[in-house]
Amino acid sequence: MKELSLHILDLVENSINAHAKLVTITVIEDLSNNLLKIIIEDDGKGMDKSFLRVADNPFITTRKTRNVGLGLSLMKAAALRTDGDLYIKSKKGKGTKVVAIFKHNHIDRAPLGNMGSTISTLLNREENIDYLYIHQLNNKQFEFDTREIRKLLGEVKLNTPEVILWTQEYINDNIRKLSKLCKQ
Ligand SMILES: Nc1ncnc2c1ncn2[C@@H]1O[C@H](COP(=O)(O)OP(=O)(O)OP(=O)(O)O)[C@@H](O)[C@H]1O
Ligand SMILES: [Mg+2]
Repeated sequence: MKELSLHILDLVENSINAHAKLVTITVIEDLSNNLLKIIIEDDGKGMDKSFLRVADNPFITTRKTRNVGLGLSLMKAAALRTDGDLYIKSKKGKGTKVVAIFKHNHIDRAPLGNMGSTISTLLNREENIDYLYIHQLNNKQFEFDTREIRKLLGEVKLNTPEVILWTQEYINDNIRKLSKLCKQ
């Protein structure tokens, strides 16, 4: 079972390929409704209506290097295994929003994985894209916004090793804090 954070990386890869400037990754753990929602939204080139209808089909891809595209279909399969689903909204020239819904306590629900290292991997990859990471657990929320971090850093780049390491620990610490707050 692939950790959900790895599926998230795959979908953000799509946003990067679509020339997004801002990618918003939202993880919502709504325990009272037993739901885990993952939303990836970008301002990239989007898809037209006819392509959108088939985008989660594994044999549909605009890749030049092979003729299967698995990012969306694997995430959808992971969601369906938990009685969840995956939806895509997209507008050509505007951007794309992918919503994956999982039953939180389903035995086949893959673990979320390490979100700190996922986000820091992304910062390491592409200097010119901004990320907003939102993690909600019941009624508590934590946000990490690279636009704010850039302001604080001034001349220092987001992908310097110290910043990458700090990001990873900061995100994981804050996710841990959320679960502590919710247990109180
Ligand atoms: N965020 C997005 N913005 C614009 N187009 C997208 C986006 N996500 C997916 N697509 C389109 O849908 C197609 C299918 O995406 P999917 O992730 O399933 O496969 P892929 O990216 O082609 O290949 P793989 O994920 O296996 O490397 C892509 O080739 C791309 O044309
Ligand atoms: Mg892909």
